[in-house]
Amino acid sequence: MTDLLIENLSEVATPRGTAPLSGADLGRVTRTPGAEVYCRGGRIAFVGSPEERRTAHGELPDVPRLDGGGGTLVPGFVDPHTHLPWAGSREEEFRMRLAGATYQELAAAGGGILSTVRATREAEQEELRRLVLRRMDAMLAHGTTTAEAKSGYGLALDPEMKQLRAIREASTSHPVDLVPTLLAAHEFPPEHRDDRDRWVDLIVEEIVPAAVEEGLARFCDVFCEHGVFTVEQSRRVLEAGREHGLTPRLHADEFEDSGGAELAAELGAASADHLIAISDAGIEAMARSGVTAVLLPGTSFFLMKHKYAPARRLVEAGVPVALATDCNPGSSHTESMPMVFVLAVFELGLSIEESLTAATLNSACSLGLGEEIGSIEVGKRADLVVLDVPNLLHLAYHYGVNPVRTVVKGGEVVHRATTPWSLRQA
Ligand code: NIG
Ligand code: FE
Repeated sequence: MTDLLIENLSEVATPRGTAPLSGADLGRVTRTPGAEVYCRGGRIAFVGSPEERRTAHGELPDVPRLDGGGGTLVPGFVDPHTHLPWAGSREEEFRMRLAGATYQELAAAGGGILSTVRATREAEQEELRRLVLRRMDAMLAHGTTTAEAKSGYGLALDPEMKQLRAIREASTSHPVDLVPTLLAAHEFPPEHRDDRDRWVDLIVEEIVPAAVEEGLARFCDVFCEHGVFTVEQSRRVLEAGREHGLTPRLHADEFEDSGGAELAAELGAASADHLIAISDAGIEAMARSGVTAVLLPGTSFFLMKHKYAPARRLVEAGVPVALATDCNPGSSHTESMPMVFVLAVFELGLSIEESLTAATLNSACSLGLGEEIGSIEVGKRADLVVLDVPNLLHLAYHYGVNPVRTVVKGGEVVHRATTPWSLRQA
């Protein structure tokens, strides 16, 4: 592992700490103009001015340099909610939605999640691995260095395991780290539509133990929503997961207030995600128990709902807020955290500083990785992104472009944007 000195930056912008930030602290981002970052053995060894670095570490003549080009350095984005291993595509459904059909109408007609289940069941594990890798390439190019990835398009023992194995194999052969989540409780498979509790039994008795036995999952998730998994069914699945060592996280209150936020609070889940329709009681319960709200504004945008999660009320109640893409083929087809960042600022009403914390430190903490990643501080892993912008504000101010110039993972340069035409030598 080589060392690296990142110099010639306009600023280093980062939240601080190893625990999720909430309330007024959510926006406490440190912006240090002209700072350098010295990475040693894959970790951050120094952050500060060139003069301070010379005093502490000397000239470092043998250490490779990364020219920041006057850009802004932020922590690698952490995307804590994705559905990466899917096969097939749903652009025809998308066209129907553009013509007025709703996501729920398409699902009721046998499309939606179940159409992706059909395609994913047919795919070989190797094909799924390749599809996941392609999506990880897009993530990396947009500054994501760690992401959660869920199963949930198999909906039977073997295809759920196939998805989780594809996640594991993709993660070991790509710079982006994936944290795996078992989401067998994403829908009811066609075989069990008339005997729903039987599917819950199978998840609890067979799929959770099998996934844990092979070490394929870290979290257990449920789509808790009217018409999908009830609170009681969700509780059964998440408690079974927890008995086997999987930490609960939930899809909660996405379309209607379904009691999912309260369940997340009751179980002390790592996160409750979506929350577009969360109730006041749900917000209070989450604030009391310290559950992180993972907000997915890309889903509101892509489903054209004109309704977003009540981010400001969550922040004011003291709930830690994180941001994620929800990358999936039906309700949010993007790998881009910069896009989510822009939506957070424009549609959730988060400040630029709050959005940075939510997309880095708080999302890392929701994956149990707050000690390791999510901020630019001495001792943390050197997962860093050089943005081609003169300061942090441009991350939302200059929208619709990819601001990522260079990505560093564990102290190594793993992605470089192509040199712009105007800067190429003749
Ligand atoms: O998070 N809400 C359920 N699951 C996904 C959508 C998955 C799909 O449409 O394929 C979501 O929005
Ligand atoms: Fe989701």
